[in-house]
Amino acid sequence: MNLFVKKPIAQIISSSDSGEHRLKRTLSATSLIALGIGAIIGAGLFSLTGIAAAENAGPAVVLSFVVAAIGCAFAGMCYSELAAMIPVAGSAYTYTYATMGEFVAWIIGWDLVLEYAVAASVVAVSWSRYVGSFLSDFGIHLPARLAACPWDVITLADGTQAHGMINIPAMVIICIVSILLMLGIKESTTVNSVIVVVKLAVVLTFISVGIHYIKRENYVPFIPPNTGHFGEFGWSGIMRAAAVIFFAYIGFDTVSTAAQEARNPKKDIPIGIIGSLIICTILYLAFSFVLTGMVNYKAMKGDAAPVATAINLTPYPWLQMMVKFGIISGFTSVILVLLLGQSRVFYSMSRDGLLPQLFSEIHPQWKTPWRSNLLFMAFISVFAGFFPISKLGHMTSIGTLLAFVIVCVGVLILRYTQPDVPRPYRVPCVPVFPILGILVCLSMMSSLDSETWIRLVVWLVIGLFIYFNYSRTHSKLNKGSL
Ligand code: ALA
Repeated sequence: MNLFVKKPIAQIISSSDSGEHRLKRTLSATSLIALGIGAIIGAGLFSLTGIAAAENAGPAVVLSFVVAAIGCAFAGMCYSELAAMIPVAGSAYTYTYATMGEFVAWIIGWDLVLEYAVAASVVAVSWSRYVGSFLSDFGIHLPARLAACPWDVITLADGTQAHGMINIPAMVIICIVSILLMLGIKESTTVNSVIVVVKLAVVLTFISVGIHYIKRENYVPFIPPNTGHFGEFGWSGIMRAAAVIFFAYIGFDTVSTAAQEARNPKKDIPIGIIGSLIICTILYLAFSFVLTGMVNYKAMKGDAAPVATAINLTPYPWLQMMVKFGIISGFTSVILVLLLGQSRVFYSMSRDGLLPQLFSEIHPQWKTPWRSNLLFMAFISVFAGFFPISKLGHMTSIGTLLAFVIVCVGVLILRYTQPDVPRPYRVPCVPVFPILGILVCLSMMSSLDSETWIRLVVWLVIGLFIYFNYSRTHSKLNKGSL
């Protein structure tokens, strides 16, 4: 068994378009940009911006968004080059199989579960919080213990404190979105496009109304001095905040996981990735600038809904309602695209024999890997219902940053080992841009706490166990049956 066996690119492309595993090619460039925005704007922007400002960066969280955007821009270009060159489902996993061999490909495929499945459960839990708050505006109060996990401490109606039991709303949203995905990509991306329009309207309204309520004194000091601890304000705080709010950019790479469903992947995938990234970066900078100008960063400590706090400062109660509604819809589309990405990665791994066949069985009418969707629905909804989310956001960030580093390395390797393969999109200034991508992502990873690193290592060790006990012996490439 060869751990570093590589899958030839021509074979990857030809095998993806044949047989009963074929997926429907329905997505246009606009749908792909919508898919990207749908995955990107979510809990990161609406929850973590305020927390990162209060705990790490102050108003300079705007600069953290710039740092994270730089890392994403380099990684996004690398994703675009590889996705246009190898336009099949599977994304970073597939590219790694072609460049660094099966073993590293397995690691990345396993790591992507952190990005997609864990992030989806994080967003589902935030969704449940906003839904609870939205419903209470109408006098409907969800039983607090049924909307929080056993690790959450909640305040009951009589003022006493208790632990939650199960987060039912978070589980319900995972189930609804999974069913949409099982029924077919066309239907689900149409839903996604509608939601994206609502979400953009909310962000733009917040920026254009909020800008009139900025108080200049909230920007002083713009970079609060470091407290003496790494990551608490000052420049190290800006870097730590960048790694935290990096969660807000996660998702643009899901565009590449849909390459096999794109009508014209070579042209449209780079447009989808880079287009959605540019639009979101501009919105994030404006949004974080307005938010930290409206509310003093110190006042946002522990506030999971800083947007609601900011909107309260305006004399428009209807805006509060609209913003909450938009945020709830926005989270729904994030979960949708993340789950789509997850099932597509496992689809590819299963077709390669590294995972059981059920992950690549396509439903005869719906043309979707429905069994995979069903299994992840069970797994992620249990996660969302019973596990605490406080550290899961960090886990998602570190896992995704690792994936980005490997993708940038992949571009460098392929440029030197396979220079003649046609590249409809090329990263400019190679090797400088991919190397900068690697460095920026590694520096964000290094600013995360040691607990998060330990969890990443544990997760990867579990993955290695599965690889050596199942995948290695079932690998079609290694068995010569691919
Ligand atoms: N970028 C996505 C979010 O912020 C994962 O919710």
